[in-house]
Amino acid sequence: MLEKNLNKLQDKKLKALLGGGESRIAKQHQKGKLTARERVHFLMDEGSFEEIGMLVTHRTTDFGMEKQIFLGDGVVTGYGTVDGRLIYVFAQDFTVFGGSLSETHAEKICKIMDLAMQNGAPVIGLNDSGGARIQEGVRSLGGYADIFLRNTLASGVVPQISAIMGPCAGGAVYSPAITDFILMVQDTSYMFVTGPNVVKTVTNEEVSSEELGGASAHSTKSGVTHVTAANDMDCINKIKQLISYMPQNCEEKTKRLPYEIGEEYREQLSDIIPDSSNQPYEMKEVIEGIVDEASFFEIHPDYAENIVVGFARLAGRSIGIVANQPMNMAGVLDVNSSKKAARFVRFCDCFNIPLLVLVDVPGFLPGTDQEWNAIITNGAKLLYAFSEATVPRITLITRKAYGGAYDVMNSKHIGADMNFAWPSAEIAVMGAKGASEIIFRKEIKEAANPEEKLKEKEAEYADKFAHPYRAAARGFIDEVILPKDSRRKLIKAFAMLENKVAKLPKKKHGNMPL
Ligand code: HXC
Repeated sequence: MLEKNLNKLQDKKLKALLGGGESRIAKQHQKGKLTARERVHFLMDEGSFEEIGMLVTHRTTDFGMEKQIFLGDGVVTGYGTVDGRLIYVFAQDFTVFGGSLSETHAEKICKIMDLAMQNGAPVIGLNDSGGARIQEGVRSLGGYADIFLRNTLASGVVPQISAIMGPCAGGAVYSPAITDFILMVQDTSYMFVTGPNVVKTVTNEEVSSEELGGASAHSTKSGVTHVTAANDMDCINKIKQLISYMPQNCEEKTKRLPYEIGEEYREQLSDIIPDSSNQPYEMKEVIEGIVDEASFFEIHPDYAENIVVGFARLAGRSIGIVANQPMNMAGVLDVNSSKKAARFVRFCDCFNIPLLVLVDVPGFLPGTDQEWNAIITNGAKLLYAFSEATVPRITLITRKAYGGAYDVMNSKHIGADMNFAWPSAEIAVMGAKGASEIIFRKEIKEAANPEEKLKEKEAEYADKFAHPYRAAARGFIDEVILPKDSRRKLIKAFAMLENKVAKLPKKKHGNMPL
C-alpha cells in the first residue's frame, strides 16, 4: 500500500500536494522565507533526513475541508543527522493552511517528540504557523496541549530548540516558551499572545506586529528570544552552532573536540583591568582571552547586558559561562540579569555542561523599581540555580565581589568547586568609600577636615579588604592567580573535575522561587 502511494508521488499533481502549491511557495519566497522542506534540507546533513508521516492528512469535513487535502497536513516531521548526530525535527509548512495546527498536525509533532524522548536525542522545531486550525476548533486546542505536555516532560531530558521563522501567535507561543532556546528571524517572524488588533481593542494602543513581537522586541525588551538571526539561512546555521555545545540528552556529556595542550599563557589578559576600580572594562575580552579561539557563542546578547552568558570551549570541552559585565551598569545584578543567568545555569546543569563564572559585581541594583519588581524573588532565582547545580563549577573573581552578590555569584559557600581570584580582586561587604562612610561616620564628622579623614579611612578599609588575600586565608578562594595564567589554570581545574559526582537530597523536586 505504502509502496503504491509512494509511486503515486511520482505523479506531478500529487507531488504538488507536498506543500500548498507553487503559487503559495512563491509567496513564501517573496517574503524572504524558505519553505519547510528547504529549511529541513539545509538543517540536516545531506541525504540524512527521513520523513515520517508524509502521507498524513487531516480528518476535518466541516467548511468543505474534505475537498482540501494536502499530504503531510502542514508540517514536515522526521529525523536525520546534524554534524553526524541524531536529531528530530518538525518544520511547519506555511504554504498549507498557513501552517495552522490541526489535530493530525499535532499528532505528527507529538510522534517526533515521543521518539526523541525514547531515543535520547534533541528536538528542533521550526515554527511558521497561523496558530490553531480555525476550521477544527477544540481538537486543535487539544493538539496544542498535547505538545505542551510533551515539551514539559522532555524538559531536562533532551535539548529542545525552537526557531520562530514566521508567525507564532496566541497559545502557540507556549510550546517554544517551554523549550530551552528560542531563535527568531529578523523582520519575518513574530511572537505574541494577543496580536495588534486585540491590543488596540483592549488597551487602545496602536502597535505593529513587528513592534509588538518581532525579533528585536523579544531580544531586547522581553528577553523571550535568546538569539536573533538575519534570515532563514543564518538561523539554521546558528541552530547548528548552538546544538554543537550540547550533549544528546541528560545522561551524556558533550563530545570533547580534539585539543592538544600547548603554551596556554595569555599575555593579553594582563592589561585588561584598569588602574581605577571604578573604570569599566569589557568582560568579553576576558572571556575571549580565556576560551578557545572564536568558540564563544553568546546567548541573549542584547538583553540584560549587565550580565553575559553563553557557551564556549576550553581545550575542546564545552562549558557555559556566566560573567558580570562592568561595561553595562557596572555589572550590577538586577531583576532581568538574575533571571537571564538563572535560566542559563539551569540549562547547563540539566545537560552536564560545566560552568565558569567570572565575577566583577558591585552588588544588587538599589531602588523602588527593583524592589517592586521583586529583586528579592528574582535574585533568589540565581542563588537557587547555582546552589542546586551539580555540574563542575569554577569561579574566577577578576575585580569586585561585594555583598550578597559575592555569595550569589557561585561562591565557595554555595557549592562552587574551585574559586580563583586575580590579585585585583576586592572581596568585601561593600566598596571602601561606602563602608568608611558608615562605620567611621562619627570619627569623620568630628574630624577637623572630614574630607581628609574620609580619604584616610577609605584607604585603611581598602588596605584591609580590597584584595583577595583575606578570603584566600579562609579558604574561600583556592588560589590567587595571575591573569595571564588563567586559561592554563582553568583548563587543568576543569580536567580535574571531569568525573565529579554530586547528588542532591532525595526529593520530588525543589520549589524554586519562580
Ligand atoms: C486555518 C489559516 C489560519 C488558521 C492562516 N490560514 N491562518 N487557516 N487556520 N489559523 C490560512 C489563510 O486562510 C490563508 O489561506 C493561508 O493560511 C495564508 O494566510 P494569509 O492570511 O494569506 O497569510 P498572511 O497574510 O501572511 O497572514 C498570516 C497570518 C494570518 C497573520 C497568520 O493568516 C492570520 O491572522 N491568521 C489567523 C491567525 C489566528 O487568529 N489564529 C488563531 C489564533 S488562536 P488561503 O487559502 O487564503 O491561502 C490560537 C490558539 C492557540 O492559535 C491556543 C493554544 C492553546
